[in-house]
Amino acid sequence: MKKTVRDVEVRGKRALVRCDFNVPMQDGKITDDIRITSALPTIKYLIDHGAKVILMSHMGRPKGEAKMEYTLKPVAERLEELLGQAVSFISVPEVVNQQIVDAAGALKEGQVMLLENVRFRKEETKNEAGFAKELAQLGEIFVNDAFGTAHRAHCSTAGVADYLPAVSGFLIEKEVKFLGDALENPQRPFVAIMGGAKVGDKIPVIENLLKKVDTLIIGGGMSYTFFKAMGLEIGTSILDEDSIGLAGELIKKAESAGVKLVLPVDVVCAKEFDNNSEKKVCDRENIPSDMMGMDIGPKSVQLISDELAKAKTVVWNGPAGVFEMPNFAEGTKKIAEALANSQATTIIGGGDSAAAVEQFGFADKMTHISTGGGASLEFLEGKALPGIAVLEEK
Ligand code: 3PG
Repeated sequence: MKKTVRDVEVRGKRALVRCDFNVPMQDGKITDDIRITSALPTIKYLIDHGAKVILMSHMGRPKGEAKMEYTLKPVAERLEELLGQAVSFISVPEVVNQQIVDAAGALKEGQVMLLENVRFRKEETKNEAGFAKELAQLGEIFVNDAFGTAHRAHCSTAGVADYLPAVSGFLIEKEVKFLGDALENPQRPFVAIMGGAKVGDKIPVIENLLKKVDTLIIGGGMSYTFFKAMGLEIGTSILDEDSIGLAGELIKKAESAGVKLVLPVDVVCAKEFDNNSEKKVCDRENIPSDMMGMDIGPKSVQLISDELAKAKTVVWNGPAGVFEMPNFAEGTKKIAEALANSQATTIIGGGDSAAAVEQFGFADKMTHISTGGGASLEFLEGKALPGIAVLEEK
């Protein structure tokens, strides 16, 4: 068990807090602030307990340059609204300079400042000691609450822990509890739903889950690689050519592990990758040579819903179809609906499945929606996340 902010004295101390404020933006405006609201419990706790709060985060991938389209200014403004107090934000291209050191030193108990995007410095993603030290000098304690970036060994997520006592915030604590309990101590039947386009990316997760789950449901773009491995014709559907062999092996592994593997039995096909394309439902054995699978069909929805109705724990990662296009969103929506109506513990991996659950209005019906896409995948793979590994044990 990792120490959290509850386990250390924070009063009067400068707390350097890594959050994941990498929020989606459009025309300079934040389009979804869930990653900011998810960090509030830790920030408020620190304020209420008299810490001097220095927040830091990355946004996007500015590749070591101070590109102002990636400034954290909009985040500072949103934080001010949410916290109802001033959040000092001094945008300097070097992220830390004497002005920032002085500002951090002048903070009073309960006051909050936010640093500029740590990825404006090229050393950040290389976890170079020099920049980690520059950041660390600002605080007296390091609090990591950036679950979404915990799979990165960067200066602000891992390096600073070489110089400061390091504990977790409440978001990381919560994510680890839900994802960890599901993997280590699930109520059974334990069902995992994997979707998304590329099998290659998800092979390690599927392999780890095969050791844990009772039922594995495969949907979305990766189904077609499995169909191909089963000797079926898939028309112009997306194919992860390099992973056909691996998909075949996973089918065998599921069998020998006694895991029930559920693949779609029918698909919604289209001529073009276009919402308005002509479409038709066909069994997986009859995908026309000039059409591509874009969603799971109604028989598959029924099959999957029946499995979900029996489940006590469900982990979902990856959509069942091209849910961004309304004409091919039905399968993903029906899965989200089945999860919303289920009594099971429902855990939604970050990224696309989290976006889908949000889009269809079922977010508040889920037990836990992870704020980390890549991070939750690596956690489900069974990997140690560097941003968590560096934190002190209780
Ligand atoms: C994410 O959105 O997955 C995290 O913020 C990490 O971002 P990255 O993939 O650019 O490291």
